[in-house]
Amino acid sequence: MTDTTAQGLSTDRDAGPFDPPSQITRLRETRPVSPLEFPDGHQGWIVTGYDEARQLLADTRFSSRQDIGVLHVPYETPGMPTPTEPSPQVPGLFIAMDPPEHTRLRRMLTGAFTVKRMKALEEHIVEIVERQLDGLAALTPPVDLVKEFALPVPSLVICELLGVPYEDRDTFQSNTAKFMEKDVALEDKMAAYGAMMAFLSGLVAGKRAEPGDDLLSDLARNDDLSSDELTGIAFLLLLAGHETTANMLSLGTFALLEHPEQAAELRADPDLVVGAVEELMRYLSIADIFYRYAVEDIELGGETIPAGSTVIVSLLAANRDPRRFEDPDTLDIHRKARGHLSFGHGVHQCLGQQLARIEMRAGFQGLLRRFPTLALAIPADEVRLRTDMNIYGVHELPVTWSPETR
Ligand code: HEM
Repeated sequence: MTDTTAQGLSTDRDAGPFDPPSQITRLRETRPVSPLEFPDGHQGWIVTGYDEARQLLADTRFSSRQDIGVLHVPYETPGMPTPTEPSPQVPGLFIAMDPPEHTRLRRMLTGAFTVKRMKALEEHIVEIVERQLDGLAALTPPVDLVKEFALPVPSLVICELLGVPYEDRDTFQSNTAKFMEKDVALEDKMAAYGAMMAFLSGLVAGKRAEPGDDLLSDLARNDDLSSDELTGIAFLLLLAGHETTANMLSLGTFALLEHPEQAAELRADPDLVVGAVEELMRYLSIADIFYRYAVEDIELGGETIPAGSTVIVSLLAANRDPRRFEDPDTLDIHRKARGHLSFGHGVHQCLGQQLARIEMRAGFQGLLRRFPTLALAIPADEVRLRTDMNIYGVHELPVTWSPETR
């Protein structure tokens, strides 16, 4: 049954920095739910069609747990051992849980992530963005936009929200980068993970002893959560909260600079930013590949996925499905892109999506307004793409501007 043309999954951006690898597009065109032979020989599946991906994400028989079956890896990862047994469940890491455990933990957090609370944070986020832009404007171009803007903004925001001292950012930024990278040796990944957990459990103990007015302190007041669960939750939020948004800000800026007429429209009419953010989310789909484990035989898109299969879903492919979005490979900030799957769908749909939207709107708007002559400082094809990371984006984005027009 295996489609032998699909041996493992290519991460090559052979169709351009913003487009899916052509292998993925081909699979969607020929068979949106396709068998895929993984490098370890496992007969897994890949879902690339929009409707099929949405249906998969809404169906909890496609489990998110890693402790009930082996989740096979579709990439060749030099030096990484092939998983042969399930991974133990990490307390509090509810992104890797199914209902009812998932429901119990997620419910404790939804109160903290309401649209209302996020709105209240909005002004503060705008201040953080403006302060960061002041810092950027004081520098002499060319500068790396990732280092000076795209990474600090979400890091500052998530630190503030969780009550993590920003001075400790190096600890979590360098350690997170290590275990998000595909090619880092297992022992280095484990060491980075251990260092993060030790840091966070110390932090949680502090919040339990002396709660403040941040989100982790709110959770620490809840006796139904164990300290291990709280540490796992802090880990998940910190990880999910800064890497993703940072890459959207930098890759999104790169995409806008490559579409100068749309950047100009956005500059002229800042209200367009709401739709532009949705379209950039759809078009770039930086969090692309997600894993599920079929707990029983499941029909999807006319195929039968056998119990025990690792199923991967490409949100990027789904968001570029011409059956759902017209002319999907074109960036068009005027299109109605809502309905994209970039924040997921179903019970695991992104908990931080309102926060991320606020950060992106403030970030793109501020950057375009303050730097009317913003431009890439190197040729576009020399920008280093994060094809080696689980979250796509750019490693650096050297930019420049004319100081007199700043
Ligand atoms: C879940 C994307 C920002 C916290 C998810 C999922 C996606 C996603 C696709 C679903 C995962 C799955 O189905 O397995 C993104 C993108 C972001 C972003 C593209 C930025 C542009 C954030 C932020 C936070 C956050 C800022 C926190 C402050 C979470 C959490 C989950 C999640 C806790 C797990 C939810 C659950 O399992 O119930 N995100 N996210 N995300 N995200 Fe985000």
